[in-house]
Formats: sequence, C-alpha cells, structure tokens
Amino acid sequence: MLKKVTLLYFSSTKTTQKNLRAIAEGMGCPVTEVDFTLPQNRQQDLHFDQDDFVIFGCPVYGGLMPLLVREYIQQHVTATQTGCAVVAVYGNRHFDDCLVEMEDLMTEQGFVVTAAAACLGEHSYTTKIATGRPDAQDLVWAKEFGKQLAGKLEAPVQPLEKGKIPGNRPYRERKPSAPMAPENTNGCIKCGLCVKNCPVGAIDPQDPGKVDASKCLKCLSCVRLCPLGSKAFTSEAFQGSVAWCLANFQEPRKEPISIL
Ligand SMILES: Cc1cc2nc3c(=O)[nH]c(=O)nc-3n(C[C@H](O)[C@H](O)[C@H](O)COP(=O)(O)O)c2cc1C
Ligand code: SF4
Ligand code: SF4
Repeated sequence: MLKKVTLLYFSSTKTTQKNLRAIAEGMGCPVTEVDFTLPQNRQQDLHFDQDDFVIFGCPVYGGLMPLLVREYIQQHVTATQTGCAVVAVYGNRHFDDCLVEMEDLMTEQGFVVTAAAACLGEHSYTTKIATGRPDAQDLVWAKEFGKQLAGKLEAPVQPLEKGKIPGNRPYRERKPSAPMAPENTNGCIKCGLCVKNCPVGAIDPQDPGKVDASKCLKCLSCVRLCPLGSKAFTSEAFQGSVAWCLANFQEPRKEPISIL
C-alpha cells in the first residue's frame, strides 16, 4: 500500500533537493516537501505516523550529518513506527559514518529505517569536484531507486538488517571547524538574496558584507547565489581547505549506492 510520502531535507546548495526529487519522481506518487534549510522552517514540530513514509536527506559534512540537522531532528521530529529512507549526499570524497548516524537518529525518533542511499552532489567548496552532480546519469539512478522503494512499500515496512548500511559505530569525531566567513569582493547592491537564503541567519540584513563567522557553516549558498559574484571565501585557511579537497576528492568518479 503506497503511503503519504514526505521529502524531509536540508540542502544549502540544492544537490540533496535534486536527488530527493528524482527519487520521488521514480516513486511515481505525489509527495509533500519539508525543506528545513532555512531557520524559519526549523521552528515547527513534526510528527509522522504509520500512514506516512519519509525520505530524509542531508549533505555529508565532515563524514557526518551537519550538526544543525541532527539537532533539528532531535528537537522537532518524531514518529510512530513510520517507514523511512535515509539519503546522504556527498561531494565525491566519502559519506563515512553519515548514513549510520542518520539510521540511528531516525530510529531513536520512532522511524523504521527500511532503505538507504548515498548519492553525489557537486562539492559545496568548489565547482571542480563532482562537477554538475547529480548529473543526468545520477538522476536516472535516483529514479530507479525510487521505483524500487515504491515496490518495497507494497509490503509492511521492515527495518534494514543491522550492519547493512556501511559506516562505523562509534562514529568519527565531530570536529568544530575554525570560524570563517565569506567576504564581499565586488560591491553589493543589497538585493538581500544571500541574506534570505543563509541557513543560519549569519548575514547582516542592513549590511550584507558583514557575516558572523561564528555562525557560518561554510555551505557556500551565498557565494553561489550572489548575482554579482560578489561573495567569496578568500582567506588563506579556506583556500587551503579547497586545495586539500582538490588533492583528495577529485578522482575517481564515485557512483551512488543503495541499500534496500
Ligand atoms: C562543511 C562541509 C563539509 C563537507 N564534508 C564532506 C565530506 O566529508 N565528504 C564529502 O564527500 N563531501 C563533503 N562536503 C560536500 C557536500 O557533502 C556536498 O557538496 C553536498 O552535495 C552538499 O549538499 P547540498 O547541495 O544539499 O547542500 C562538505 C561540504 C561542506 C560545506
Ligand atoms: S554566510 Fe556562511 S552559512 Fe550563510 S550562506 Fe554564506 S556560507 Fe552559508
Ligand atoms: S546576494 Fe550579493 S548583491 Fe545581493 S545582498 Fe548578497 S552580497 Fe549583496
């Protein structure tokens, strides 16, 4: 029996959103979207029941879930035996322990995790890693995963066998990263686009050149969105991280994986 399907996700640069939407298309049923990327969308409490099915997606940050995603789910999302698929989207290095962390967290919140996928997304730090992903090939794959998932929902949902999802417990250490923030390099017309789309409200609405480095996730949403190409992370520390990523993440091309 097909359930009420909800896409529940955080996606700063929209690669998680693209992967989830393709999975939903493959499922071939109407879906509701709960995009909790922006702070105003992380206020509401959500509860799901046995008539629901949730596809939960987030990007991989440092081999784990972004901390704010973890905190939002812990504080606001509960379920009563609701079937769930967890989808981690990563920038061609690895998803490490992110999927098992998602599996454990959703189980703690009352979900039954019955499927998982690790999909690819262009790396937030640079367009030179996992460029253009998810690409056409990834989206075909995501639709096929969605089709298989819909088939699985014909039967009552069962949890995946423990250990089927790759990843380590205990998870890798969640290391706080050095505070950094983007600079304005090229003027600013105060259009407010970056302000409205910052997931943590770090950009000053009166003066968008001012960013609170202690809040910034380095998600690069503002850099990608600015119509003038004004925002950039120019610090040596950030450029060092990009150089490290370029040396370690670029090759070979990784393919999505699914666990059903
Ligand atoms: C702070 C940060 C840490 C990241 N850590 C990893 C990582 O450990 N492994 C990886 O392959 N990609 C990593 N990425 C890349 C993202 O997972 C990838 O770009 C993803 O597609 C972003 O999803 P979004 O477009 O939905 O925001 C990281 C990105 C950011 C911003
Ligand atoms: S200021 Fe930081 S957190 Fe906000 S959109 Fe820009 S990179 Fe992301
Ligand atoms: S998106 Fe660019 S131009 Fe618009 S407010 Fe932000 S920095 Fe200024």
